[in-house]
Amino acid sequence: MIKMEQKTFQLQNGVLLPAIGFGTYKATDGNGKQSIADALETGYRYLDTASFYGNETEIGEAVKESGIPRGELFLASKVWKDEMGYEETKEAFEKSCERLQTDYLDLYLVHWPKRTQEDKDWKICLKDTWRAMEELYEAGRIRAIGVSNCLPHHLEVILEDAKVKPMVDQLELHVGYLQLAAVNYCREHDILVQAWSPLGRRRVLEEPVVVSLAKKYQVTPAQFLLGFLHQEGFSVIPKASAKERMISNQQIFDFALSEEDKYFLECLPQMGWSGEHPDL
Ligand SMILES: NC(=O)c1ccc[n+]([C@@H]2O[C@H](COP(=O)([O-])OP(=O)(O)OC[C@H]3O[C@@H](n4cnc5c(N)ncnc54)[C@H](OP(=O)(O)O)[C@@H]3O)[C@@H](O)[C@H]2O)c1
Repeated sequence: MIKMEQKTFQLQNGVLLPAIGFGTYKATDGNGKQSIADALETGYRYLDTASFYGNETEIGEAVKESGIPRGELFLASKVWKDEMGYEETKEAFEKSCERLQTDYLDLYLVHWPKRTQEDKDWKICLKDTWRAMEELYEAGRIRAIGVSNCLPHHLEVILEDAKVKPMVDQLELHVGYLQLAAVNYCREHDILVQAWSPLGRRRVLEEPVVVSLAKKYQVTPAQFLLGFLHQEGFSVIPKASAKERMISNQQIFDFALSEEDKYFLECLPQMGWSGEHPDL
């Protein structure tokens, strides 16, 4: 097992969230649970999954076989669009736990704010879903609760009558798509922003500005993109298939961008967007 430097972000309730997690969307497509075993072997302790990814069972098995004590791991999953609603969310949570072979999650997120883009009752559904999240949290089944793909107007709906505020918002976030309005809103409300597709799923890796700045700081383009996000205060969850990439994607703490380069990156025109949006 490789020991990696474990930096953390402290959530509003005191829970420490590892600064780098392993993204598992499509991670098990090629060689099943072996990729999860490799991620654990190369030092990842935070695994980001979702019922939608269809790989919670493989993750549960890989975790069990690793022999790593549950308390040393940070397991996160998400309630999918068609599992939203009060009873449905509670059922979905139990199913995720069963597949992951655990009786609690470190982080559970509402995957998207709406079941469908056309859903006229989305506010009621989101509030019902959040009520279930709060109850699971208060019952000690989840250490931290949050959302994903929620923009300020979605978060406002939750905050209107939340007893427990969302602690995390997982957003598509990478150079070329920094969602500053949502990020600023989250910062004002003490919600940690996590970057999904921090490498823009490879779409921004080969951009000339990224390649040349990575060269300047003597890191790879992937390390540059991840290090920049970390220095901006975001947690990152990159996905990779090969062990070398899994390792190098965790070596992002040894360089510091100048203020000038940060502003430059923050002000770039949009690039690498996935095309996914909660309202469109
Ligand atoms: N909440 C949401 O709605 C949502 C949506 C999407 C994703 N996510 C989460 O975010 C995680 C990460 O996002 P993502 O998987 O979409 O994309 P990503 O992490 O931005 O990019 C993954 C891609 O980059 C490649 N890559 C990784 N490390 C590399 C390196 N060092 N050099 C060159 N290429 C490298 C990978 O290739 P190989 O696999 O071939 O190594 C893969 O094609 C997901 O796995 C998932 O857990 C959440």
